Amino acid sequence: MGRTQFFSSLAFAAGLASSAAFAGAAYENVKVEAGKTLFDAECHRCHADNSSDPSYGPTLIGIIGRHAGTVADYEYSETLANAPIVWTPAALRAWMEDNQGFMPGTKMRHVGITDRTVQDFILSYLATLKN
Ligand code: HEC
Repeated sequence: MGRTQFFSSLAFAAGLASSAAFAGAAYENVKVEAGKTLFDAECHRCHADNSSDPSYGPTLIGIIGRHAGTVADYEYSETLANAPIVWTPAALRAWMEDNQGFMPGTKMRHVGITDRTVQDFILSYLATLKN
């Protein structure tokens, strides 16, 4: 989809998100759908969301609650391999916002996602990636 269309569907999703009529499961589904679109645009070229698909970056299946740098057989940078953190939603926000500032020495290219709503959507999608 084109960039304008992409941003207008985001604005639409954000509008729905703030509408009281869309509570509970319907609201969460909208966030997951928007998150998938954003993940495809910003993350998918380096991170597979399917365990049988090898990728340049480590798999993000099960990322929320996982200890950093622990995918077996993945060659992490020294920084990430030794990072003493668990991937909570707050840590993932800091990473999306400025991964190289958050963990100097990481080999992941800077992504710079500073918009909190965009971060929310991506987090909703990441939460669905389970083994
Ligand atoms: C240009 C390729 C690229 C893009 C785009 C990219 N990543 Fe990464 N990502 C990597 C690489 C490579 C690593 C491993 C970094 C290291 O070892 O220092 C990584 C590591 C990670 C980790 C740490 C995983 C772990 O096992 O500890 C998370 C979380 C992550 N990326 C999330 C994301 C998200 C979310 C996006 C999209 C917003 C994204 N990445 C976009 C390449 C990328």
